[in-house]
Amino acid sequence: MSQKLLEVKDLSVDIESGRILHDVSLTINPGETHVLMGPNGTGKSTLGNALMGNPVYTVAGGKIFFDGEDITDWSADKRANAGMFMSFQNPLEVPGLSLESFIRNSIRQKTGKPIKIIQFKKQLEETMKLLDMDPSYAGRDLNVGFSGGEKKKAEILQMLMLAPKLAILDETDSGLDVDAVRTVSKGINEYMQRTEGALLIVTHNANILEALKVDHTHVMVHGRIVKEGGPEIIKQIGDKGFEQFA
Ligand SMILES: Nc1ncnc2c1ncn2[C@@H]1O[C@H](COP(=O)(O)OP(=O)(O)O)[C@@H](O)[C@H]1O
Ligand SMILES: [Mg+2]
Repeated sequence: MSQKLLEVKDLSVDIESGRILHDVSLTINPGETHVLMGPNGTGKSTLGNALMGNPVYTVAGGKIFFDGEDITDWSADKRANAGMFMSFQNPLEVPGLSLESFIRNSIRQKTGKPIKIIQFKKQLEETMKLLDMDPSYAGRDLNVGFSGGEKKKAEILQMLMLAPKLAILDETDSGLDVDAVRTVSKGINEYMQRTEGALLIVTHNANILEALKVDHTHVMVHGRIVKEGGPEIIKQIGDKGFEQFA
């Protein structure tokens, strides 16, 4: 467990209009749950996107290591195949592609092997049950007509089925009612138990964190990490906001 899973070293990231992230460093070990908090528009999603290799975000400095390899220049597909996963703040709707086919394709792409259909279907069914998802959703077009909460559950379902080494959850709890937050937390805990996974949870809502064991908190303001520590920081933010660290 001593090997670092993700190591971000002095990462600076640009978009067309300028620099968003400044010298961001963080390290995540296998089995750890990290939380990234910060005000709106501060660069949290940018960090997630840059880690996943989204070409809109240019690495202007620094390095990203994953599972012992320098992945700074890797394509998004290669990173996903290596075991990185991100659930999006606003998941895409894909007419004509069912949720089940999408998950099957993703697993096939990741493993490079054919899928044992019966086993896959059984696992999909069980996982949907755990997430209180109606089985009919498997056959529905990906995210088309899904409510906000259903989209988030579909993302957690993908995470559980893909079993990535690192899951980045970007505001997976935003806009969810209390029951949905509980279900999503249950899914996240299941992921941590089932796999040797690690989590980077981006949120500005402490609700989802109550049910999770947080190891480390990072606070980002204006594209910089301004504070680091344990779970106690979440309460400090709840009490006094982000400005105390800026
Ligand atoms: N693809 C993009 N195109 C233009 N501006 C972007 C893009 N992605 C992020 N930004 C800008 O970068 C800043 C940080 O955004 P973001 O990373 O989404 O913040 P957060 O997730 O912390 O709310 C914002 O000013 C946002 O408008
Ligand atoms: Mg965001």
